[in-house]
Amino acid sequence: MPSTSVINRFARSPMTLDVTRIKEDFPIFQRTVRDGKRLIYLDSGATSQKPNVVIEAESNFYRLHNAAVHRGAHQLAEEATEAYEGARESVAQFLGAKSDEIVFTKSATESINLLAYAMGNAAVDNEFHLKQGDGIVVTEMEHHANLIPWQQLAKRTGAQLSWFDVNDEGRLDLSRIDQVITNKTKVVALTHQSNVLGTINPLEAIVARAHAVNAVVVLDACQSVPHLPIDVQGLGIDFLAFSGHKALGPTGVGVLWGRNQLLDELPPFLYGGSMIENVTMENATWAQAPKKFEAGVPNMAQAVGLAAALGYLESVGLNNIHEHEMVLTQEIILGLEEIDGVQIFGPKELTLRGGVVSFAVEGIHPHDLGQFMDSQGIAVRTGHHCAWPLNRKLGVNATTRASMYLYNDSEDIQSLLASVVDAQKYFRSR
Ligand code: ALA
Repeated sequence: MPSTSVINRFARSPMTLDVTRIKEDFPIFQRTVRDGKRLIYLDSGATSQKPNVVIEAESNFYRLHNAAVHRGAHQLAEEATEAYEGARESVAQFLGAKSDEIVFTKSATESINLLAYAMGNAAVDNEFHLKQGDGIVVTEMEHHANLIPWQQLAKRTGAQLSWFDVNDEGRLDLSRIDQVITNKTKVVALTHQSNVLGTINPLEAIVARAHAVNAVVVLDACQSVPHLPIDVQGLGIDFLAFSGHKALGPTGVGVLWGRNQLLDELPPFLYGGSMIENVTMENATWAQAPKKFEAGVPNMAQAVGLAAALGYLESVGLNNIHEHEMVLTQEIILGLEEIDGVQIFGPKELTLRGGVVSFAVEGIHPHDLGQFMDSQGIAVRTGHHCAWPLNRKLGVNATTRASMYLYNDSEDIQSLLASVVDAQKYFRSR
């Protein structure tokens, strides 16, 4: 366990959520790790833990309703279709969208690849067609899932990839917005919240500039949808991607939201059953969106599990969750600032910031620190966090990242802070 001599050293925060009660909903917190230690899970940016309602929803689908959706004349097929389409409706409501604007994918990574490949399939007369001289804009803080698909699309089409830099504070440098987003730009793809820095990007100016030049805005909302109230209409964006597993949902399900009219125009990505309108030996025509983008028997149980997860988040309240995480984020930043030799990456003030804090401890490699913390029951992520270009910009190979969620409390933060101090003592004495 972390040293008790330092456990009360750092200022504690009053809790805004009843974390003890919430933890009862998550079976994983009943187990211990590393020889009986309390599990202190600070790695929700990588994947979240699952409440019973999600595990039961997925399991009940298989136990009671399992059948292939949109085909079959029997009762189970009808029930499965109702459950799957009901899940679509739940996701739509959660995002302030229409249900036919919700495409189920296997992950956020697949959602973004779907878009990039579909754009690459666009014929010359299609508004998504990209050619030499066109522009795709990303940012220096993208994780690989929202960078590489666009790099590859640029290579395939001859379009030019450009990006917004990240400044010393860990925010986007928008001072040259008109030079970065030009009248050649067709796509602006950016993260809503950085998975490394915690920065929440200001969308208003970017969306306004993108739309002024008729570019579409794609929002990677992997780190924001689970933690903040999101209203796609209010954000003014055109496409949004998120993954279920970071939002208390199952793995194997992601979402692509797109405006109706844009999904209608976008060509398909995967071809096969369920996405067609009519097929001959020589040709095929496509179903309306969202079916056009859901070839094959879809991830029905996972979609149902995701709907249960979003229902759970709504029952706690996204504003409450964000507020809770901000209290913990303040506690961790203030605590780390008190420890000599610790460098925090990303904004220190809480405005436009989420509950992800990356840091480095002088003289201790992040992987050693991660292993040390693990020996005390603390799960953090160490490494480049699938964002190599951002790590290069920060001048580091790796960082240690604590990412918070509704089931974390001040006790967890105090344990992490104490563990940093313990690690300094341990590694300096060697
Ligand atoms: N992008 C995910 C993370 O930040 C995998 O951990």
